[in-house]
Amino acid sequence: MPVITNVEDLKRIYKRRVPKMFYDYAESGSYTEQTFRENISDFDQLRLRQRVAIDMTGRSTASQMIGQDVSLPVALAPVGLTGMQSADGEIKAARAAEKFGVPFTLSTMSICSIEDVAENTDKPFWMQVYTLKDDDFMRRLFDRAKDAKCSAAVITVDLQMLGQRHKDLKNGLSAPPKPTFKNMVNLATKVPWGLEMLGTKRRFFGNIVGHAKGVKDPSSLFEWTHTQFDQALNWDRIREFRKMWDGPLIIKGIIDPRDAKEALNVGADAIIVSNHGGRQLDGALSSIRALPAILDAVGDKIEVHLDSGIRSGQDILKAVAMGAKGTYIGRAFIYGLGAMGEAGVTKSLEVMQKEFEVSMALCGRTSVETIDRDILMIPDDFEGNWAS
Ligand SMILES: Cc1cc2nc3c(=O)[nH]c(=O)nc-3n(C[C@H](O)[C@H](O)[C@H](O)COP(=O)(O)O)c2cc1C
Repeated sequence: MPVITNVEDLKRIYKRRVPKMFYDYAESGSYTEQTFRENISDFDQLRLRQRVAIDMTGRSTASQMIGQDVSLPVALAPVGLTGMQSADGEIKAARAAEKFGVPFTLSTMSICSIEDVAENTDKPFWMQVYTLKDDDFMRRLFDRAKDAKCSAAVITVDLQMLGQRHKDLKNGLSAPPKPTFKNMVNLATKVPWGLEMLGTKRRFFGNIVGHAKGVKDPSSLFEWTHTQFDQALNWDRIREFRKMWDGPLIIKGIIDPRDAKEALNVGADAIIVSNHGGRQLDGALSSIRALPAILDAVGDKIEVHLDSGIRSGQDILKAVAMGAKGTYIGRAFIYGLGAMGEAGVTKSLEVMQKEFEVSMALCGRTSVETIDRDILMIPDDFEGNWAS
């Protein structure tokens, strides 16, 4: 058993274990991947202010997100096809999250269905919802989430059309999938992954097959998903979704203060400052850079969360210090899942919690609510000195 001290260690094992086409699917951004890279490198621009001789005993990393207790201000982000990174991956990740005491968010495009995850976990999870055209499907999706006792819905608003990731097209990970011969050979070499996959029945989009009209098999599924993303989406349509769900609502995919204000008017409980992990508009600002302006615009009226680029507990600390009430990890938990299944997700959360706690203490703070911008050293031009 290798000694795992950080998320990068899990990523190395993940890369060896999972077929290249699924590794590439997670580990890529759109076009030149500038935003994907800057999501990470912009965290490095922030420095932490060390303090000494301050009592650091009695520490706690516990906090709340949308009024729900969390053991660390982090949730697992919705990640499509998680069940292809590891067999029954959504169930494994949800179990790790509930034992650790943080929310798990199930993607609309998951392999395990809402019902699968609910049956195999004890605590409520959060349901991510894409803004699709099929009203009947959308209504039933919210109803299914309600029946499964989901404690929040997360509506993703930044995917009216798909950003292009070169690697996916080259690997044939398209709709419908056309894996290349090279990919098939690579897949055949991933024996432990393949054996696990053979042992599960869950290999297609569990929330959709059998639930959307006319979708009964993979080929009709790809046809359906291809036509369902709503390019005509507007805020009135999002208000209609708000009416379909009367529980806590989070709007995901905001990177501009004007959109943050719109989300506020919809009656959301929180927004997630996110550029979809650099997978949508390449050239968009990193989330951590976009955060201060959004906090200035709506921070006193709505809870503001952040994702994109978090790879360590120090990144979580920096986002919270900047003013985010909570954060989400996407790839950082996928690395753990692909490397070691449920235990890997737990490991990813454990190493980040440790990093968060130690760094918080060395900044002279002992609880999440006492963390503020004073622990950060922010470059003058961090938000960018743009001409327009
Ligand atoms: C492989 C992959 C699949 C994703 N699928 C979804 C999805 O189905 N729904 C969604 O709202 N966001 C999706 N996202 C975006 C994540 O929820 C999250 O915003 C992003 O991963 C955060 O960036 P990070 O990976 O750097 O932490 C996906 C991200 C990745 C990497």
